[in-house]
Amino acid sequence: MAQPTLIEPPEVITTRRLVLRRPRMSDANDIFDNYTADPEVTRYVIWPPYTDRSEVAPFLQSRLARWDSGEEFSWAITRAEEDRVIGMVGCREREQAADIGYVMSRKYWNRGYITEAAKAVVDWAGNLEFIYRVWAVCDVENRSSARVLEKVGMQREGILRRYIVHPNVSSEPRDCFVYSKVR
Ligand SMILES: CC(C)(COP(=O)(O)OP(=O)(O)OC[C@H]1O[C@@H](n2cnc3c(N)ncnc32)[C@H](O)[C@@H]1OP(=O)(O)O)[C@@H](O)C(=O)NCCC(=O)NCCS
Repeated sequence: MAQPTLIEPPEVITTRRLVLRRPRMSDANDIFDNYTADPEVTRYVIWPPYTDRSEVAPFLQSRLARWDSGEEFSWAITRAEEDRVIGMVGCREREQAADIGYVMSRKYWNRGYITEAAKAVVDWAGNLEFIYRVWAVCDVENRSSARVLEKVGMQREGILRRYIVHPNVSSEPRDCFVYSKVR
């Protein structure tokens, strides 16, 4: 079946402990305080840690524009008991595939939150009629992210050699594991 021109993602996804929702410009301070400036959180992402909270507004504007154009959907991750952003999970559809990415405040690591959030997004994308493959890559040294991808039901397909630059580790492209879940 042909892919519709515009996917309409859920603005809110509720899981057992979390509420994933469309980001708001008013989330900027929480996002800065919780993770974008933390060099440990940003180690294996494609952007350098933010040094000033003014950097968050343009980032949020681009997330919202990408949501509106259907290019990429990024949900703010909040805990059910408190509407403050502690991380983000994103999904891009390209033809018959959707790829995901995520980030979580270090304060909340190892509580299963990203597994819970990513699984909800993998389930949503994987249930779209035209999606046959949901996938992700992570740096070969990013063990916690690789573990998350296993826990959401993906299988490791192999290594994409010299695939992506993680500028906070090296200016040279790095090897990445590629994981997927297919139907
Ligand atoms: C990767 C990340 C999103 C995981 O978030 P999280 O909420 O801590 O994830 P979860 O708690 O759901 O699961 C983490 C798993 O990794 C495991 N883990 C943590 N550190 C690990 C390490 N050094 N080696 C191996 N496994 C590790 C945890 O034990 C847990 O697995 P378990 O449930 O089997 O015990 C978070 O660490 C993060 O934001 N990292 C920085 C950003 C990033 O790298 N994003 C991904 C880019 S591909």
